[in-house]
Amino acid sequence: MLKQDYILHVQPDTNSLNRTAADYWLAQAIHSIECYGSFHVALTGGSSPIELYHLLTTTEYAEKLNWQYIHIYLGDERYVPHNHADSNFGMARKNLLDHIPVPVENLHPIPTSYEQAFEAAVKYEQTLQQYLPKDPNGFPQFDLIMLGMGDDGHTASLFPETEILQQFDKQVDAVYVQKLASWRISLTYPCLNHARQIMFMVKGENKSEILKQVLTENSPMQYPVQAVLASEQTHWFIDQAAASQLDSSSD
Ligand code: 6PG
Repeated sequence: MLKQDYILHVQPDTNSLNRTAADYWLAQAIHSIECYGSFHVALTGGSSPIELYHLLTTTEYAEKLNWQYIHIYLGDERYVPHNHADSNFGMARKNLLDHIPVPVENLHPIPTSYEQAFEAAVKYEQTLQQYLPKDPNGFPQFDLIMLGMGDDGHTASLFPETEILQQFDKQVDAVYVQKLASWRISLTYPCLNHARQIMFMVKGENKSEILKQVLTENSPMQYPVQAVLASEQTHWFIDQAAASQLDSSSD
């Protein structure tokens, strides 16, 4: 049986998947601006959201939003300069941010110019404290966090067997990912799970096995992504290939 905590959107092809995800993104932005006066969203890196970012730059979406009330962050970052080919902020700039009228002061990239990645994590935590609205307990809260999922079950930069998985005191931390031989900065579980809404974009057959485990009730906790759940709703936008091992008869 599939978990009831999640809202699943399985689409037959990439175009309808991107459109469904873009419609949801737009609805969340409009809702947050109407209800709270602003929309605070963390973008994801990876390849899955690129076409969604393109869609959001089109008049059909971009003109429906007042970008002045939208604040944009990153959920994780590779510790390279923003103009490096691996930079998540660089990717977001190229595919989305350079093409929408969002004020530059509303952009909150993860800094990558400190000598130590840990210093950048501390700075970003301060940025979240400064700009994010607070929940009723005073905890900084995103309206929406966008995430992907790697074929090892990582999400943001929460990789299997890394220390950041045990980080419950900070909202942002640095993590050295051995298998990539590189430093990353990531939002931690407490920060992710305080978000009102989380949206995952997952494409491709290579994710289907893990996805089955993540979305199925009572499956053993094996992958970092399994411990992510938003405070209000967690949506999964999945293509048919990634959903191929889900047992629809037991929905
Ligand atoms: C990153 C990400 C990462 C990504 C997954 C999925 O910086 O790489 O934020 O968590 O979302 O690796 O990536 P794909 O969308 O390319 O499959």
